[in-house]
Amino acid sequence: MNTPATIHVPIALGERSYDIHIGCGLLAEAASWAGLPASADALIVSNTTVAPLYASRLAAQLAVRHRRVLQLALPDGEQHKDAATLTLVYDQLLGAGCDRKTVVYALGGGVVGDMAGFAAACYMRGVPFVQVPTTLLAQVDSSVGGKTAINHPLGKNMIGAFYQPARVICDLDLLDTLPERELSAGLAEIIKYGPIADVVFLDWIETHIDALRARDKAALAHAVRRSCEIKAWVVSMDEREGGLRAILNFGHTFGHAIETGQGYGVWLHGEAVGCGMVMAADLSARLGLVDAALVPRLQQLCARAGLPVRAPAMPLARWMDLMRVDKKAEAGEIRFVLINGLGRALVRPAPDALVADVIATHSLPA
Ligand code: NAD
Ligand code: GLY
Repeated sequence: MNTPATIHVPIALGERSYDIHIGCGLLAEAASWAGLPASADALIVSNTTVAPLYASRLAAQLAVRHRRVLQLALPDGEQHKDAATLTLVYDQLLGAGCDRKTVVYALGGGVVGDMAGFAAACYMRGVPFVQVPTTLLAQVDSSVGGKTAINHPLGKNMIGAFYQPARVICDLDLLDTLPERELSAGLAEIIKYGPIADVVFLDWIETHIDALRARDKAALAHAVRRSCEIKAWVVSMDEREGGLRAILNFGHTFGHAIETGQGYGVWLHGEAVGCGMVMAADLSARLGLVDAALVPRLQQLCARAGLPVRAPAMPLARWMDLMRVDKKAEAGEIRFVLINGLGRALVRPAPDALVADVIATHSLPA
């Protein structure tokens, strides 16, 4: 197998700048951890699935840098991304007498990363944290850019903070154990970057989708790198989502409605985003913003990625209520990320009748 060289993608955010390391074998490489904040204590926050696979290997590396390396395995699943589970992190930190220099390492997918990051943002008003993403979705999206959050029963990611990590370590070897369905969910967030920012990358994904599904390391390295480069560019222009950053939520308004409407954990986040992208592309086409050919193009690519492309049946009123809880909504008006010519995106409202047509077209029969 061809092993790609390690790549560093910088995120330029002034004093909050950091690097994303992308490559193979990074967990066991001293260079991955060199130069990170020094402290007596470290806490590895993981979950009951990932910790048995990788936590002891990470702990062995960190033992060189920290006097005490504590470990916490949270319950696994989106349905546990809540206030009760978050409290377990504070219980561990306070129970062990960890001070404000303690470094929190998030070892897991987006759920662990979002929760550990939010805990790090709040513990003693902020302790350093490092992202060690173990899913494809987390490597290309959630570990980068500093969004941290937990869910509320009334809305996804509604309680959170912007809090940047000190570094992101994307070890592609950790993806070897990822279930196929989770790999596909990560591909959705990779596909997302094409229509919103990079047509050449969209073409490349179409050509390499089978290699990505086969976990070819060179293909994965390129996909993770290009995704992180695009995200780094967007985040460095608009860290706190005053405007541009919202384009990273392409497919998420419909997608969050599917996730929340079905119950957290029923549809994977990436699955909901994949289906949501097809719907948002259709809405863009109906508004005359992009050629309608994008809709079947994205539908086919998502299907080849192993993603569902038909939304679950939900009453229209339920869709609308759920989408109004979206963070992009303003004064109760739903705002969508739309493709404005392939490779560009904008955020704007859309007439309810068109939204209803899109939902009817792309939903399974009741
Ligand atoms: P996840 O964290 O639930 O992980 C998916 C599953 O894979 C879990 O069961 C996990 O235990 C397992 N797993 C993780 N790594 C593994 C490995 N290497 N081998 C075997 N199993 C492994 O899901 P996800 O898709 O990584 O993340 C979804 C979450 O990310 C959602 O909560 C979403 O809201 C959030 N998110 C956040 C941002 C952001 O900017 N902060 C962006 C996108 C998504
Ligand atoms: N995943 C969307 C963002 O980071 O802004």
